[in-house]
Formats: sequence, C-alpha cells, structure tokens
Amino acid sequence: MSGRSRLYARLPLLEPDQWWLEQAAAAPNDRILELGSGTGRLTRAFVDLGCDVTAVERDTDMLDSLREHLGDEVKVVAADVTDLPDEVGTGYGLVALPSSLLNEVGDAEARRRLLRNAAARCHPQGRIAMQLLGPWWLVGLPGRSTGRLHPADGSAAIDVTIETVGFDAWASRRQARLTYRFADGTILHDDLEASAVTPAELTLLFEDAELELLGKWGAIPPESPQTHDPVWHLAARPAEAA
Ligand SMILES: C[S@@+](CC[C@H](N)C(=O)[O-])C[C@H]1O[C@@H](n2cnc3c(N)ncnc32)[C@H](O)[C@@H]1O
Repeated sequence: MSGRSRLYARLPLLEPDQWWLEQAAAAPNDRILELGSGTGRLTRAFVDLGCDVTAVERDTDMLDSLREHLGDEVKVVAADVTDLPDEVGTGYGLVALPSSLLNEVGDAEARRRLLRNAAARCHPQGRIAMQLLGPWWLVGLPGRSTGRLHPADGSAAIDVTIETVGFDAWASRRQARLTYRFADGTILHDDLEASAVTPAELTLLFEDAELELLGKWGAIPPESPQTHDPVWHLAARPAEAA
C-alpha cells in the first residue's frame, strides 16, 4: 500500500465534507458518479445515505483499498477521469469531483475533458459538484505552514504541516509535502502536485462543458470563496436545465 493510500484509508470524513451530503440530497435521483474516489472515504458516506454509487479511480493502491472495503456495495471502475469508458453510463443525479481532483489533473486541456466527461454523464436535471484547492491559497503558500482538520464525527483533530517543494509559474502547478499527525501519534505523508485553477479558468471550463454555475462557496459553506481559503466548493448543472 502506498503512503498516499494509507493516508486516505485512515482519513475520516471531515466537517466541510458534510456539504457533500447536501449535494446528494439536492440531486434528482440517488445515482452518484464519484470521480477520483481514492480509498472510498466519501464513497462510504454516500452508500450510508442509501445512494447507488459508481466510483472511478486510476491509482492501483487506492483501487485495491476501495474494492476491499466497498467492492460489494458500489460499482468500481478503474479509469482515468479525463477519458471515461462507456461502462460508466449516464443519467447520474450527482457527479462528484471531491477533494483536489480538478487540481491534480495536470493541464487545462485535460481539465476541459474532465468537465466535459462529467457533464455528459450527468442527468439533464442533475448537478455536478466539486471541491477544489483555493487557487490563491495554493499560489501563496509559504515555505512551511500548519493547519488542523476536524473530523465530522467530532473525534480528535488531525494536525497538518505543509512544506512547499516548488511552484511552476507557467503551469501554475504547486508541489508540496503534507504531513498529517493523528491524535494517536501516527504520522502519514502526501506528496501533492496540484494546479491552481483560477476563477477565469473555471468560467471557461463551465462554458465549454455547457454548465451553469449554481453556487460557489469557500472553505466552510455557505460562506463565499475567499483568497485565503484552502478549499472552495462549487455546484453546477447542465445549461439546458436552466
Ligand atoms: C486527494 S485524493 C482524494 C480521494 C477521495 N476523493 C477522498 O476525498 O478521500 C484524489 C484522488 O483522485 C485520484 N485521481 C487524480 N487524478 C485522477 C485521474 N486523472 N483519474 C482518476 N483518478 C484520479 C487520485 O488517485 C486520488 O485517489
């Protein structure tokens, strides 16, 4: 198991992730397509709501963990989210792009394919929702910073230290090492490579995929996006549903 999959298998649902349950509740049907589902941290929450989930992931370690824990309860598809196979199907009430998926996809053209794929799989009255790393936060990260994550179930907080490795100014791509310290002393790492996706690019991505923005929120919905937010939340719908 890779360091990254060990980390995600251990990470609980966090307070801001509860926003996802509202997105599922607002969808016109209980079918959810979750893109970049990792080890199934959020997938488990959707299943517990009674949703019918298709989970797409490309990392083999993440897939092993996802299949082990949720293989009997969800449809698992091993694929790249920028090139979804036909077996994924269509008509999903919610297409979910959680965590930093949009940021991890390496360039603007691939992000365009991702949004087009998401739109094509969405029910005409459905919604596409995403969490992404706040672009201005990502650009402005100092050499070393710390933060604290609060689990949704009220259990002990997790301390995170972020050490930047570099920033490619032309690709707007940040490299950083994240160190997570759990209350029991366990320390796990994540080596992040993430693009800053600006509001200007998001507007173009939505236009290209014929999506209409339903709402934009900062790190803690319903507050609006701020420069210092590590995470933003967006929801959109197919434009013809407007
Ligand atoms: C930050 S992790 C989050 C995992 C999970 N969504 C969660 O919140 O626990 C991002 C996940 O997206 C996956 N991912 C990134 N780019 C992908 C791509 N192009 N196709 C499929 N999965 C991808 C990674 O392998 C990783 O599992």
